[in-house]
Amino acid sequence: MTEEEKQKQIDAAVERLNAKRDPEVVAKEQEEARIIAEKQAKNHSGTEAARARINPDFLIDDNPQSHIKHVIGVVSGKGGVGKSTVTASLAAAMRQRGFETAVLDADITGPSIPRMFGVHGPAVGDGTYMYPEVAGDGTKIMSINLMLDDEEAPVVWRGPVIAGVVKQFWTETLWGDVDYMFVDMPPGTGDVPLTVFQSLPIDGIVIVTSPQELVQMIVKKAYNMAGMMNVPILGVVENYRYLECPDCGKKISVFGESHIDEVAKELNIPVMAKLPLDPKMAERADHGEIYNNSVAPFDGACDILSIL
Ligand SMILES: Nc1ncnc2c1ncn2[C@@H]1O[C@H](COP(=O)(O)OP(=O)(O)OP(=O)(O)O)[C@@H](O)[C@H]1O
Ligand SMILES: [Mg+2]
Repeated sequence: MTEEEKQKQIDAAVERLNAKRDPEVVAKEQEEARIIAEKQAKNHSGTEAARARINPDFLIDDNPQSHIKHVIGVVSGKGGVGKSTVTASLAAAMRQRGFETAVLDADITGPSIPRMFGVHGPAVGDGTYMYPEVAGDGTKIMSINLMLDDEEAPVVWRGPVIAGVVKQFWTETLWGDVDYMFVDMPPGTGDVPLTVFQSLPIDGIVIVTSPQELVQMIVKKAYNMAGMMNVPILGVVENYRYLECPDCGKKISVFGESHIDEVAKELNIPVMAKLPLDPKMAERADHGEIYNNSVAPFDGACDILSIL
């Protein structure tokens, strides 16, 4: 098959994957998504493969008692697009599929993962290792907010110290057996994403974005950074796509019209999920029950992750 034919097939399959989900064709779509992802994942699957890609000078030690099969970074070019929500939701969705899941909260100055999962510190340790907190759905969590005496105390540290803490979370947490670890990154392309890309065996990244003009530039920044660091891009998630009026059902494009399909096509990456602006989602996150949100919008994303 030529590159062009292959691309056409991928485009057609991804389009169907993102179409309104009709139960009758879901099974077929999922099989197609699996095939696409298999092609994409073939060369970059698992922490072992990731280690081979990484410059050994930067790779940090694993915790000898942790066995983490896949590490997925969740990034965005700018803040507030729902990166933590997507990180937590992906973990919850994969958990519902029966996988052991974990979230490493690498957003040291703006940690929001513990709150979304309803876990509170202090995390305990045994003198050598720290234990992750376990959320109501079984997802293991480590975050700076589980270390602080006061959850509302600000973390006012310089970049290298912050990056060092992220490394400690990887090495010094007793993660145990984890099928999928999701790393919630701070927004942008600063110190922490650099550290995570360089020193953790990342399978790939998911880029989260919102439907605005400037998104194209922002997605491309994240895309280019991943390219520079030799980290595969698994796909893009568009958040805040529309708000459905509770009275008339009209879909309002709060952040403007979406350009995600064009951008994804241009960059040749799949759109893994398109999420509406849903006040109930925010409410559950605020109440520490993000895992009680419907995981249906993440079906396509989970299909891709499942076969990594
Ligand atoms: N699809 C959605 N519908 C409703 N609320 C949402 C949605 N996605 C995110 N939110 C809410 O918007 C707020 C910001 O989301 P979130 O914290 O996930 O963004 P972020 O990109 O991680 O932000 P930051 O850059 O500060 O880390 C949160 O209160 C969250 O609950
Ligand atoms: Mg966040």
